[in-house]
Amino acid sequence: MDFSVAVDELRAGEPVAFPSDANTLQFASALDAQDPINLRDQFILPTRASLKKKALNGTIPAVSNSPSSDDDTACIYFVGNSLGAQPKAIRKCLDAQLETWASIGVNGHFSDMEDSPLTSWQDMAEDCAKKSADIVGANPSEIVIMNTLTINLHLMMASFYKPEGKRNKIILEWKPYTIESQIRWHGLDPAETMVQIQPNEDYYISTEEILATIDKHADETALLLLPGIQFYSGQLFDMKRITAHAKAKGIVVGWDLAHAAGNVELYLHDWNVDFACWCTYKYINAGPGSIAGAFVHEKHGKVDFSAGTQTWQFRDRLAGWYGHDKRTRFNMDNKFQPTVGAGGYQVSNPSAIDLASLTGALSVFAQTKMKTLRSKALLLTAYAEHLLNKILVDKPGAFRIITPKNPLERGTQLSVLLKEGLLDDVSRDLEAAGVICDKRKPGVIRVAPVPLYCTFTDVWKFMDVLRNTLTN
Ligand SMILES: Cc1ncc(COP(=O)(O)O)c(C=O)c1O
Repeated sequence: MDFSVAVDELRAGEPVAFPSDANTLQFASALDAQDPINLRDQFILPTRASLKKKALNGTIPAVSNSPSSDDDTACIYFVGNSLGAQPKAIRKCLDAQLETWASIGVNGHFSDMEDSPLTSWQDMAEDCAKKSADIVGANPSEIVIMNTLTINLHLMMASFYKPEGKRNKIILEWKPYTIESQIRWHGLDPAETMVQIQPNEDYYISTEEILATIDKHADETALLLLPGIQFYSGQLFDMKRITAHAKAKGIVVGWDLAHAAGNVELYLHDWNVDFACWCTYKYINAGPGSIAGAFVHEKHGKVDFSAGTQTWQFRDRLAGWYGHDKRTRFNMDNKFQPTVGAGGYQVSNPSAIDLASLTGALSVFAQTKMKTLRSKALLLTAYAEHLLNKILVDKPGAFRIITPKNPLERGTQLSVLLKEGLLDDVSRDLEAAGVICDKRKPGVIRVAPVPLYCTFTDVWKFMDVLRNTLTN
């Protein structure tokens, strides 16, 4: 099968016709031989042996090229939708940061060290913003690296959720405390102001349904805040079309990109999104709880200096000293002069250790393009779907895939809803075979073959284990 021909079909939203030998290991290997990325070696994947570890012993899992037992082979790591695998580059960046701090102490704030993969601490957030630009489709000055995802959603809502009179509703898809508490904090009643779009019985929300909801509540809606990808079903929303529709009705648009950043192609600037927030521990691989990112469209990051130094005009926000222009930040003169762009939304001094991790993770993305990653993801996911459907031929009704069939309506994740009572057995067998994927009770396994470090062979092996579990 020709890799790029298949990708072109998927990009056109068409299903790929896999050949009759697609369920063989040879076929999977042949697709791996055409992998346009080849960055797997830059990650440390747990092995079956390392997964059993109960105490630290100073070793890092090493994958043997000629393993004496299955224990020395890399696990099938299909859980990048929850926590990405560790890029080797992170250790180098953390070492550099620790050496800098130990060697020059406080001077690390302003000193660039030769031969370091890092900039001075003061410039690291901006440097990470620059390196994230291609991932989210933004100008570097529209990105701020700070805090964690939920905190950033709160900060963005503080600036962008401006209920006025009857225009006070938020259109949303899920019901997190984040939005509910913002509404209460404004003294409003969530029951009256939250417009929740519900999935149908197939866990699907059509674009038409979203657009109709916008139309229905347009005059009363202050904010539309949706996830780019739905965490449970893996559905990817048509962010471009939804944003354009809501903006045309005067609604502010924000996106929660937890499951979309580093997974699918995003063009936040061109789509005219007002703000977006994402975490970096899933598809961006910066480590558990790592520092997050936010996008603020350039039109909201403007600072108007024309009225003189006492009356700078800029969008209201919850501010802090690290949002102050770097050139005068340390004058501490009590006159907030925001950095132009998203950097003006920075509040606190960001952790240099966190930024070092993210720098390492982003150095992997610098070696490829989101377009290339997405191409491989489209085919990997289609291949996983094909093999799942083959299992269903032998074992009808054992599960159903609740992620949309249309390749343009999903990222790398396929959510497999197992027949009642199967989850525990399937989980046990997957674990025993060295497969790591995410399980959601009562019966969903979320399978995410992330293109940076997963292979077609991984997909084949995963399906082999699943088939054996279900058919034996
Ligand atoms: C869609 C979505 N939003 C928000 C969050 C919360 O992220 P955090 O705990 O990093 O604030 C998550 C976590 O996985 C998520 O999946």
